[in-house]
Amino acid sequence: MYSGDSLNSSSSKPSITTFPNWRRLLPFIVLAGVFVFGLSFPISNFFIVRVKLPDQSGNAAFAPVSKILQSSCVDCHSATNDLVAYPFYAKFPIAKDTIARDMLEGQKEFVITKAQISGSELISNIDLAKIATVVEEGSMPPIRYKALHWDASLNREQRQAILNYIHSRNQQN
Ligand code: HEC
Repeated sequence: MYSGDSLNSSSSKPSITTFPNWRRLLPFIVLAGVFVFGLSFPISNFFIVRVKLPDQSGNAAFAPVSKILQSSCVDCHSATNDLVAYPFYAKFPIAKDTIARDMLEGQKEFVITKAQISGSELISNIDLAKIATVVEEGSMPPIRYKALHWDASLNREQRQAILNYIHSRNQQN
């Protein structure tokens, strides 16, 4: 009887039509929230301030290479932590382990010092050969890093600049 009453009373109320209908919009609002949250990761990386080493090689072929190493490679391969630009999510659970593993695994294979980045010291021929390989393969930086660092992928000019410099070094040997 009680339930019948309440049913009656609710059906006799005029239906309220509000616009927008928040109940219907909720899934879209949640999706938009997730989308914006997801985008905040890569977008925040455009605002990271990096320590920049000026080129000291006085070599026009090396100057662009110094810049590329600093914009695309130092986060994982730098011998010193002060060149590493940690993102705001660096301490988040999954990110933390991924970053630590990338730096560890990356530096097992290839380490670059500040002196080499600034050009006051030459990168060894062995390291140059390794760099040429990854640049030709397009395997560096790893895709997972590029997904969150949209300006880290090497474009055609950047790849060419690296290969030109390596070529010029090979000519000297
Ligand atoms: C997100 C971290 C990360 C960034 C950024 C990154 N690397 Fe790596 N790099 C790695 C890891 C991890 C490895 C080892 C495993 C592999 O080869 O994937 C590696 C391996 C290498 C190797 C050794 C490859 C071999 O087989 O001998 C070279 C050389 C290298 N990277 C150069 C670069 C250069 C040049 C850049 C910038 C254009 C760069 N990396 C950017 C993580 C990174």
